[in-house]
Amino acid sequence: MTLQLLVGAIVLLQCCFIPTLQHPLDPLTPSEFNQVRLIIQNSHLGTTLSNLTFHFVDLEEPEKSDVLNWLSSNKHNGSFPYRRAKVVVRARGETHELIVDLATGSITSDHVYTSHGFPPFTYNELLQASRLPKKHPEFKDSISKRRLNLSEITCLPFTVGWFGELVTKKRVVRVLCYYRGGTTNIFARPIEGISILVDVESVQVIEYTDRFKAPLPSADGTDFRSSGKGPNSAPCNGTKIGFTIKGHEVKWANWAFHIAFNARAGLIISTASVFDAGRKKWRRMLYRGYVSETFVPYMDPTSEWYFRTFMDIDEFGFGRSADSLVPLIDCPGNAVYMDGYMAGADGQAQQVARAICIFERYSGDVAWRHTEIGVPGQVLTSGETVVSLVVRMVATVGNYDYILDWEFKQSGSIKVGVSLTGVLEMKATSYAHNGPETEGVYGTFVAHNTIATHHDHFLTYHLDLDIDGTNNSFVRSKLKTARAVGIKPSTPRKSYWTVVRETVESEAKARTRLGLEPVELSIVNPNKMTKLGNQVGYRLITGQRATSLLSDDDYPQIRAAYTKYQLWVTPYDRLERWAGGFYADRSHGDDGLAVWSKRNRSIVNKDIVLWYTVGFHHIPIQEDFPVMPTLYSGFELRPANFFERNPLIKQ
Ligand code: MN
Ligand code: CU
Repeated sequence: MTLQLLVGAIVLLQCCFIPTLQHPLDPLTPSEFNQVRLIIQNSHLGTTLSNLTFHFVDLEEPEKSDVLNWLSSNKHNGSFPYRRAKVVVRARGETHELIVDLATGSITSDHVYTSHGFPPFTYNELLQASRLPKKHPEFKDSISKRRLNLSEITCLPFTVGWFGELVTKKRVVRVLCYYRGGTTNIFARPIEGISILVDVESVQVIEYTDRFKAPLPSADGTDFRSSGKGPNSAPCNGTKIGFTIKGHEVKWANWAFHIAFNARAGLIISTASVFDAGRKKWRRMLYRGYVSETFVPYMDPTSEWYFRTFMDIDEFGFGRSADSLVPLIDCPGNAVYMDGYMAGADGQAQQVARAICIFERYSGDVAWRHTEIGVPGQVLTSGETVVSLVVRMVATVGNYDYILDWEFKQSGSIKVGVSLTGVLEMKATSYAHNGPETEGVYGTFVAHNTIATHHDHFLTYHLDLDIDGTNNSFVRSKLKTARAVGIKPSTPRKSYWTVVRETVESEAKARTRLGLEPVELSIVNPNKMTKLGNQVGYRLITGQRATSLLSDDDYPQIRAAYTKYQLWVTPYDRLERWAGGFYADRSHGDDGLAVWSKRNRSIVNKDIVLWYTVGFHHIPIQEDFPVMPTLYSGFELRPANFFERNPLIKQ
C-alpha cells in the first residue's frame, strides 16, 4: 500500500467510525465536528468557488421514542442506531440545510432554504464587519471632524431586525462605534449620530450617514474593573453530598440528568429523573430544557436606535457567546467544570474551556423546619438546611452578561435562574443631566451626557416536561371566591375560596398572560395517581409578570409574537425547538411558537412542551453604572402530588 492510499484509508476510517456513545443526546464531539466538515467539503458544496461557511452545526435531534427506548432498555453500551448532524451552510449565496449521517459519512438531505430570515452570523463575519468603518473614508472624516483619534475607536456589529421591507435579500448588520480613550467600558462612550450599514457577504459598507454630533461622555468613573480585593469562598453550611459525572450524565442525591452544550442554546438539560425513595424507583421529570430564544427590544424609536430589537439566541447564540468560567468569580471553589464544543465558520471544532460549571450549594436556607411547643414540658425543633446542586453557564452578548442556572433540589424542585449583569447600552446626549428640558429622552441619566435606554429582556425556555411518563396534561387551578350560604348548620362566615381545576384542552386555551387573578399552573400525568387519588404532577412557580408591551403591529413584535404571553403549551414536535423561529435574523415572523400554535392542536393526555418566558422590563438606575449589580429572576418547577409525602423526610 502506498503512503497515499494509507492516508486515504485513515480518512475513510475516521469518517465512518462512531465512538462508543454514552448517551444519544451527547453533543457532537470535536472529531464529529471535523468529520462533518470533511464530508461537506468533499461534497458538491465544497468547490473552490462556493465560498462555503458553516453557520450551524449541531446534533440532529434524534427521535424521542428512540432515545426513551434506549434509556429504558438500559443498554448504555453505545448501540444507539444512528448519529446524525444538522448543518446549515452558506454556499454560493444560498442557505443549505443538510442532514449528515455520521455512520455512513454521507449527506442524506440537502435542502436550499429560500424563505424569510437568515442563518446566524459567524464570528468571522461579525469581526470583519466591525473592522470596516476604520477603513471607510467617510467614517475617517466624521472622526476627524469630532477631533477623535481613530486608534481609540472600537466598533461593534448589531443585528438590524426587520421593519416591513418586502424584500430582505441581504445579510446585513449595523456597525456602531465607541470611544475608549482612557476607559475599558466602551459602552459608556458611544459616538452618536453615525449610522453604518454593512453587507456581511460582500464585506462592504452599503449605507453611511452622519446625521448629528453629541458630546462624547467623559471616561471618568466609567471603569468597572474590580478593586483588587480577591474573591473569598464563603464558609460552608451543610454537609457535602458529592456528585458523579460520567460522560455528560450527572448523578447527585436523588437526581440523574444529562448536560449538553451547543452553539445556539448553550446549556441544555436532558432526561432528568428524580429518585422516589418511597417507591424505590427513578421517575421521569424533564426530557429537555433550555433557553429557546431571547428578545431584547430597546425603547428608543429614533433613527440610530429603533432597530435595536435583538433575538440573541439565533442572531448571536448563547453557546457562541459562552464565557470560559472564571473560578471564584463565576463559580465557587468546589465547582467542577465541563468544556463545550462548537463549529467555527470554517467548520472546524472550537473549544470553549470551562463552558459549564457544576457545584453543590450550601445556601444557609432552611429546607424545612418545625418547632413544637404542644408537647407538655418540651420545646421540640427539627429541620434541615438546603443543600442543592447548581449547573451554570454565562453568556456575554455584547454589553450584557446572562448567568443561567439550573438548581436541583432534594425536595424534587428544579429552580431555574436568570441573572443579568454587565454594562448597559448607553446613548450620548447634549443634555448634561436630568431636568425639565430632558423630558422625552428614552432612558435614565446614569452619567453626565449619558442616557441608559429603556429596554426589555425576555428569555423563553423550552421545557419538555414528561412527568412520570410521556403523556401529560396542563391544568389551570383557579381560586374562586364563594359566598358562605346554604351551609348547615349556619356559619357566621360570609366568604371563602375554593379551587376550580380545569384541564386545558388546546393550544389556544393554554396561552397564559399572568394577571392579578390567583391561579396555580401545573403539568400532571392524568394516567398516574398517588395512593391518595391525586394526579401526579409538577407545579410551575412563575416569576415576575413581564410580557412585551409593544403593539401587535410593530415589526419587532411580529417577529417575537410569542412574548405577548408568559406561557404557551404545545404538543411535542421534534422540529419545534426555537420559539422565535429557526432563522430569526431579519425574520418576518412566519416561523416560531406563535405560528405553530395557530393550529390549535389538542394538548390533553399528550406529550406536551411548556414554553415559559422570564421577562424583565428594565428602567435603568444610576446604580447600574458603570457595571450592573446582578438582577435575578427565574421560576421553579416544584413537585405537586408527585411524591406521597415530603421527600426530604427519610422513611
Ligand atoms: Mn413532554
Ligand atoms: Cu437590561
